[in-house]
Amino acid sequence: MTIPTPASLTLVVPTFNERENLPEVVRRVEAALAGIDWEIVFVDDNSPDGTAFAAKVIAQGDARVRCIRRIGRRGLAGACIEGVLSSSAPYVAVMDGDLQHDERILPRMFDRLRAGDADLVVGSRYVAGGGAAAGFSEARASLSRSATQLAGLVLRAELSDPMSGFFMMRRDLFDKVAPRLTSSGFKILADIVASAPGLRIAEIGYEFRERTAGESKLDAGVGLDFLGLMLNKLTRGVVPVRFVFFAAIGCTGLAVHLIALRLALALPEVGFAFAQSLATAIAMTSNFFINNLVTYRDRKLKGLGLWRGLLVFYLVCSLGAVANVGVASWIYSLDRTWWLAGIVGAAMSVVWNYSLSNFFVWRRAE
Ligand code: GDD
Ligand code: MN
Repeated sequence: MTIPTPASLTLVVPTFNERENLPEVVRRVEAALAGIDWEIVFVDDNSPDGTAFAAKVIAQGDARVRCIRRIGRRGLAGACIEGVLSSSAPYVAVMDGDLQHDERILPRMFDRLRAGDADLVVGSRYVAGGGAAAGFSEARASLSRSATQLAGLVLRAELSDPMSGFFMMRRDLFDKVAPRLTSSGFKILADIVASAPGLRIAEIGYEFRERTAGESKLDAGVGLDFLGLMLNKLTRGVVPVRFVFFAAIGCTGLAVHLIALRLALALPEVGFAFAQSLATAIAMTSNFFINNLVTYRDRKLKGLGLWRGLLVFYLVCSLGAVANVGVASWIYSLDRTWWLAGIVGAAMSVVWNYSLSNFFVWRRAE
């Protein structure tokens, strides 16, 4: 018996509610990649429409098709990372599962990599042969342009379409950069390019097609994620994406606090200490709920866990306030610069609140 040889190219296709698109994806890939040993790995986040089951039905009749079904996790970048990590082929590609990416450029991407003059080939909407007219609304196109410009500033790489979710690269290089990637975002390509400086990048144009079945999962949260990712890369990965959100929400909490304080002081017979305590509680509560919706939306607390989380959050923040005052007073005793002591104390409590909440309030659900 001859042992079947492994694929030379793994195509990772992240899916969420794409059941109706799967058979056509496989058909088109098969047609496009004739002559290349390929395999497809669908990475599905337990879609309610049963995408994973549909993928496995296809897989039963075709050994080149596999499916990873992830339970209790959501996220495009994380899905792509896991799919690529499951590959042992020399080359890997990531392509959407909604037929918007043009699979017909895959062989040219493959040739560029095999020729050895590029480590990463990006399918681009913004070079010759590329376009996005059909697949984009005007609002979406202008958002995409702004994000592209921001990424250009941060990434310092010649990349016309850093937002692309369509690319192919050497698998050994991906394995190297994988530990530095952020799994919570939507923009895995921008992350790879920022995290692995010096990659030789080539681009090939393609026409971004219209989606015909299912719907887009891009929402406001995706934009937020992207901003967080860019800030994280600007600080060379030292500042976690979640911390950026946590700190920004802390600033909104300050505004909430001041408004609440002003209103409480306007009430008859309310002393300052009471008004300040009330404003503090309101600000903490608002921080908690906004963080739950934004910073931790991938592990959002619900039901009883929400109220338990709120109590633990109050506790963490109260201790944070004590630490804040302690550190600030200590610095003030060394050096009488009041604003420096104030800033260090406040910064210290943000770091404290973040670290402890991350662990005790929003620890990963098992
Ligand atoms: N596993 C998994 N988990 N897959 C997901 C998730 C998720 O949480 N969210 C989206 N997907 C899958 C979709 O099923 C689809 O196959 C692909 O990821 C892209 O998602 P869309 O919802 O179709 O995104 P889009 O068309 O708005 O975004 C496209 O354009 C962006 C550039 O503007 C994609 O090509 C992105 O990759 C690209 O960055
Ligand atoms: Mn799409």
